[in-house]
Amino acid sequence: MNPIRAVLPVVSIVVMNSIGSYVSARGAGLACPDWPLCPFPGDELVLLEFTHRAFAIVVLLAVVAVTVPSIRYGGVARKLAVLALALLLVQIGLGGAVVLTALRAELVALHMAVASSVLAAYSMLAAVLLWRVER
Ligand code: HEM
Repeated sequence: MNPIRAVLPVVSIVVMNSIGSYVSARGAGLACPDWPLCPFPGDELVLLEFTHRAFAIVVLLAVVAVTVPSIRYGGVARKLAVLALALLLVQIGLGGAVVLTALRAELVALHMAVASSVLAAYSMLAAVLLWRVER
């Protein structure tokens, strides 16, 4: 696999996490009180919150590009790819729950914990895939 493809999920998740913390720091978490869509036209905060949601599509595309070959490789790559994808889908659902519960503190904390776990899982997968390329 092309090494750039192997690290794309990691890069996109780092960007996603940064946008998420910017949303939080700007107090834009409830700028879109609904899910999955936002009321448009909206102000800068609506756009910021919507960017965080919409970027999940970019993350998903990057993830599909490594999940399909990883499943084909089998072994550790397959196990990590399935675990990481499951975590990512839980994270997207949690994002919706965070909004629909008006930023319930426990869910915001869980959203942060799963964000770190998703990043860890895709970093490990990238290491396995790159190691496979090197051999
Ligand atoms: C790849 C998927 C996602 C990742 C990795 C991710 C990651 C993050 C991170 C790291 C934060 C900052 C948390 C904090 O500072 O405490 C955050 C905040 C937030 N995320 Fe996500 N997120 C994802 C998807 C979503 C989706 C689909 C939604 C849907 C609405 C969403 C809604 C939110 C909201 C509302 C906040 C702000 C919470 C607050 O104001 O404290 N996230 N996200």
